[in-house]
Amino acid sequence: MKVCIVGASGKLGRYMVQHALDRGYEVVGVCREQSVGKLDGFKGRITVVPGATDDRDVIKQAVEGCDGVLVVLVPRGVHGYSTGTAQAVLDYAPPGARLIFSSGWHITRDGRDVYSRKLKMIVKVFGPLARLARFADLDDQVEACRRVFASDTRWTVVRGSDLEEGASQGLPVWSRHVGDPILESNITRRVDFALFMVEALGNDALVHEAPAIVGCKTPSALAHAVDRG
Ligand SMILES: NC(=O)c1ccc[n+]([C@@H]2O[C@H](COP(=O)([O-])OP(=O)(O)OC[C@H]3O[C@@H](n4cnc5c(N)ncnc54)[C@H](OP(=O)(O)O)[C@@H]3O)[C@@H](O)[C@H]2O)c1
Repeated sequence: MKVCIVGASGKLGRYMVQHALDRGYEVVGVCREQSVGKLDGFKGRITVVPGATDDRDVIKQAVEGCDGVLVVLVPRGVHGYSTGTAQAVLDYAPPGARLIFSSGWHITRDGRDVYSRKLKMIVKVFGPLARLARFADLDDQVEACRRVFASDTRWTVVRGSDLEEGASQGLPVWSRHVGDPILESNITRRVDFALFMVEALGNDALVHEAPAIVGCKTPSALAHAVDRG
């Protein structure tokens, strides 16, 4: 199994690199030039392709021959960074490759997610402020995911809850819609978010799904695990 990790130098990306190496996968990581040093701990064990993740030539080179591509979608800046990244992966990943994208709960696939007042407020207040400061553009991640949902590739969009650091608790549980009781705890260890992304590569039941995830040891996950048998 050869996998490309787009956005490999970030926190989620480095956890994904580790999980992929643990499984014996060949790993190609893409990250910005100035962040290559953040991957020093993996020196000699992965191939690094430096460059902006929305640079189509960089992605074309990095995904060549890959069975799977794990993409950290971050809406940084206001120039369509996420959208450019997603589009390049959709265009250049080998036909039939598994494509796994990360996002947050605010992304909705079918409009049937039910959001808390807190999350709605964060999107309403943080969104415009971040854009004004030219720090991030939440709509960019929305557009990136819209393109992924519309594509006929073998995609999965993993929607992360609030995140925390800490040792792995195991594979998160998931549900199709935010607002489902099992997700109520709204917290996942970042290392387990990465685990879910990497596990999704081999899980065909997740093709064309946008699972919203939560830590498997959280109260809501434990309370509702029984419902699932
Ligand atoms: N943070 C949360 O609470 C949260 C909650 C739910 C879902 N998520 C999702 O989880 C994923 C990872 O997010 P994270 O917050 O945990 O961060 P992260 O893993 O640290 O990743 C941040 C990424 O953004 C890149 N980046 C930073 N500044 C940039 C810039 N100016 N221009 C371009 N790229 C830049 C980083 O690359 P460098 O290494 O080059 O800096 C890195 O790849 C995202 O898809 C996010 O939507 C996050």
